[in-house]
Amino acid sequence: MDFPRTLPEGGDVLPGVANAVAIASAKGGVGKSTVAVNLALALAADGARVGLMDADIYGPSLPLMLGLRDAPEMDDEGRIRPLQAHGVSTMSMGFLAEEDAPVIWRGPLLGQATQQFLQQVDWGELDILLIDLPPGTGDIQLTLSQIVALSGAVIVTTPQAVALEDVERGIAMFDKVEIETLGIVENMCFYVCPHCDQKHALFGEGGGQSIADKAGVDLLGQLPLDERLRAAGDSGTPLIVSDPMAPQNKAFTDVGQALVSALSELT
Ligand SMILES: Nc1ncnc2c1ncn2[C@@H]1O[C@H](COP(=O)(O)OP(=O)(O)OP(=O)(O)O)[C@@H](O)[C@H]1O
Ligand SMILES: [Mg+2]
Repeated sequence: MDFPRTLPEGGDVLPGVANAVAIASAKGGVGKSTVAVNLALALAADGARVGLMDADIYGPSLPLMLGLRDAPEMDDEGRIRPLQAHGVSTMSMGFLAEEDAPVIWRGPLLGQATQQFLQQVDWGELDILLIDLPPGTGDIQLTLSQIVALSGAVIVTTPQAVALEDVERGIAMFDKVEIETLGIVENMCFYVCPHCDQKHALFGEGGGQSIADKAGVDLLGQLPLDERLRAAGDSGTPLIVSDPMAPQNKAFTDVGQALVSALSELT
């Protein structure tokens, strides 16, 4: 896969990173972390150099989802080395927040702490860094977007009729800081019956496309509601690692390709 470069080369923050994409949603629990992890692994399986950063300070999910047990280490120059998980470089802001959380991660200090964190992590050369955001449209989302010149954002949504408003709130937040929404991913759209292989659209078909059309962005992909995806995420070994041939993985590969095309259109 050919990645474009949408970030400035040799910048202050993320100097070796060609593209940085935030995975966001206004509402919690829609599957941002699931999408971020599986998308990162799908891109890595296609040969990309991928980083994955968990920007959820209070409720980091990546250590659990990727089975990371160790704390990251610092090198002699005080730079933090990302942890390697199934070929993806990963780092969680949650590692740094344990003790000082109430003081540092608020208000004016938040920006400083975030910037310091970002500059300290030695990502090396990456084709793409995915940033798994906490839910909402608050401080951390805006701060991050201001510090890192993100290539763009992907908004994760679910197919209920009410989701349009959440998607629009997400897009509006990124608009405010002049970050382009590259598209939406509709998660938990359909269910494939394990007995008869029949596809059931739980909330009707076409919801994601219609939300994308109304919001004026691309639909990057649709993901099944799937028990194996959930169980694999909770166990620390994502499905794409435990069973690379599982049909569920294809959806993430497709989203990865759509995302790379969307990035290419920016350049
Ligand atoms: N496609 C899916 N099929 C089955 N379960 C899923 C799917 N996507 C997510 N889940 C499950 O739903 C729960 C919430 O997912 P996840 O943690 O990825 O959401 P999130 O948007 O990151 O949540 P938060 O807003 O708290 O960060 C998890 O238990 C996850 O395993
Ligand atoms: Mg999450």
